[in-house]
Amino acid sequence: MSPAAVSSHHASIRRSLLAWYRKSRRDLPWRRTRDPYAIWVSEAMLQQTRVSVVIPYYERFLRDFPDLPALVGASEERVLARWAGLGYYRRARHLRAAAALAVERHGGSLPHDHDAFAALPGVGRYTMGAVYSIAFGRRLPVVDGNVERVLSRLFALAGDREAFWSLAASLVPARHPGDFNQALMELGATICAPRSPSCEACPLAARCRAKALGRVGEFPVVSSRPPTRRLRVAAALLESRRGLLMERVAIGPNQGMLDPPWAASEASLRRRLTRAGFALADWREIGSVRHGIMNKMFDVAVYGARVKADGAVASAGAVASAGAAGSAGAAGLAGEWLSRRRLRDAPLTARARKALALESRLD
Ligand code: ADE
Repeated sequence: MSPAAVSSHHASIRRSLLAWYRKSRRDLPWRRTRDPYAIWVSEAMLQQTRVSVVIPYYERFLRDFPDLPALVGASEERVLARWAGLGYYRRARHLRAAAALAVERHGGSLPHDHDAFAALPGVGRYTMGAVYSIAFGRRLPVVDGNVERVLSRLFALAGDREAFWSLAASLVPARHPGDFNQALMELGATICAPRSPSCEACPLAARCRAKALGRVGEFPVVSSRPPTRRLRVAAALLESRRGLLMERVAIGPNQGMLDPPWAASEASLRRRLTRAGFALADWREIGSVRHGIMNKMFDVAVYGARVKADGAVASAGAVASAGAAGSAGAAGLAGEWLSRRRLRDAPLTARARKALALESRLD
């Protein structure tokens, strides 16, 4: 195509997409605000998580932390607890750290310069493009999985991520760039689905190159992914008068979250708990849960047991501190007892939540 033809093709794509979006856009809570902070929170949550899952978390998060100073003033524990269930907790830690820097460096609001925003922890070009196009009307592109799929079909393009960023940058209009970006994401989420897209309802069907070629199913061209690794592990729901025993995760994406004690097998889990000084009574398997993270799939066998009394812990040299969540640490196990009430608001890993759903079987 000649440059003039490309330009008019792009213009007609923009027009059709924006017209469709104005008519069909979903009424989402972050679309009812122009507050850059709220839009930032929504985009941080929407990365790697579906809209329908995000909505209640977004609403609760904004109720508890309505602005940057509220978020900065909250403990990491509380922020993680509000995030619990959404996964990828690094996003929450980054969001809080970035909010603190924004308050410190930029006087309590988001910086005027979008590159200064992108210099904050956890803010990549996706978040920068989304927040600054939606909240400030800057002409910046966004590319996520949905956008990549739409563009790869629309242009029958089998490129790498960089190619999609260039294409998105050439498409995003100066007027209403935020609507345009959200329209592309929305089209990918609702019409241009990965499998069986609804081409008959697509506002861009007449301009879709993959469709014209009869090759919609061939796009996007997927690079071969590393195969999912299946791992079997064992986790324990250990109950005492003081509640259930949880461990604080020391490293990795779940750092700072609470997880039941676990090990690679039932035998090593029992060994670990026994060495830590617990006299396990009524040890039994109560069920299993499955939990995927990145390219790993964990099959978690969940065991329940009662420990007779905290004395068993103390006699093994553990520290029995005061308070509802005293520590129950001993050789290789730094745990905390949590009452059922505290468990409700605790920053539990997704895996812990699934295991705890089996908890009624303890009784
Ligand atoms: N996915 C991520 N951000 C989105 C937004 N603002 N609208 C629709 N889908 C999205």
